[in-house]
Amino acid sequence: MLKKQKKKRTKTYLNIILLISWSFNFFSLNLSAYDPVANDSLELARLYDKLSTPQYIQGKELIKLLKVTPGSFVLDLGCGTGRLTAYLKELVGPKGWVIGMDPSPYRIEIAKQRMKEGLSFQLGRSEDLGVFKDNFFDFVYLNSVFYWIRDKETALVEIYRILKPGGKLGITSGYKFENSPLLKIVNDAIMEVMGKEFASKGMMNEDSFSKEDFKELLQESGFFIIHFEQKEYADYFPSPKDVVQFFKASSNGNLLEDIPQTKRASILSKIETRLERLRSSKGIKIIHWTILAVCQKPL
Ligand SMILES: C[S@@+](CC[C@H](N)C(=O)[O-])C[C@H]1O[C@@H](n2cnc3c(N)ncnc32)[C@H](O)[C@@H]1O
Repeated sequence: MLKKQKKKRTKTYLNIILLISWSFNFFSLNLSAYDPVANDSLELARLYDKLSTPQYIQGKELIKLLKVTPGSFVLDLGCGTGRLTAYLKELVGPKGWVIGMDPSPYRIEIAKQRMKEGLSFQLGRSEDLGVFKDNFFDFVYLNSVFYWIRDKETALVEIYRILKPGGKLGITSGYKFENSPLLKIVNDAIMEVMGKEFASKGMMNEDSFSKEDFKELLQESGFFIIHFEQKEYADYFPSPKDVVQFFKASSNGNLLEDIPQTKRASILSKIETRLERLRSSKGIKIIHWTILAVCQKPL
C-alpha cells in the first residue's frame, strides 16, 4: 500500500477540494497547497481556541478509548492551542507528563499560556520527532491532525519509535467520503465560478485516503489495531459566515488555497448562500465523518 500511495501522489488531478470528511480538513484543497504556518495568524489561532469545541468533544472521546492512566507520559501531536492537552494533564495527575507539539508558532503561543508543572508545549511536526528519545511515551495521539500530515508514513515510523513497547497511539481523522451535502455545496460553488471542467477534474484529491488505506497504513507501520470505528457527528452553527470562520480557523487559514485569489470571494459567497439550505431549528447543520482509531506498539 505504501507504494500504491506514492504512485497515487504522482497523479496530477486539478486538486480542488475534496476531503470533506472533516477532521476540519474541509475546504482545504490538496495537501500540497496546505501550509500550517504560512497562512496562519495569531488572530486565527485565537479564533480556533474559541471555536474548537467540536474537536475538543471528539478528542475527549478518543482519550476515553485510549484509557490513559495516571502517571503516564503523553504526547499530543498537532496540539493546536492546547485545550485537549490541558485536559490530558488533569487525567495523568501530578506524576504524569504531557507535551503538546504543533508546527504553528501562533497556536503554540496560545497553548503556552496553559503551561504548568508537567504540561509543556513546543514547536515541531509529526514527521520529525528527533527531539524525543526512543521508547519514551506511553501514549501519543493526534486529534483532527492526521489528514493534514503530508508524509504520513514517516510520521508513523517516528511515532512508533518514540512509543514504549505496549504504548498506544490514538488518532481521529477525516477520510475520503464523497456523499457529503457540504461537499456538494462546495463543489457546486467552485463549478459555477471556475467552470465545469475545473470542478469535475477536482473531484478527487490525490491525497485523500480511504478507511481501508488508513487501516493498511497503520498495520504496515507495525501497529496492532485495537479499535477502529467510523463515526458521524453533527455540529450546528448560527450562520453560514460562522461555518466559514470555523473552517478557516481549523485549517490554519488554508481556505480555498488552490483557487486564484481573485475568484475566492465569489466562491465563498456562493457557498454561504447555499449553506442556508442546511439550516435546521438548531442552526446550520454540518455533518462530518471521522475515524477513531486506537493502536498499540507490540510488546
Ligand atoms: C484542526 S487542528 C487540531 C488541533 C488540536 N489537535 C485539537 O484537537 O484542537 C489541526 C492542527 O494540526 C497541526 N498540524 C498541521 N500539520 C501538522 C504536522 N505535519 N504535524 C503536526 N501537526 C500538524 C496544525 O497546526 C493544527 O494546529
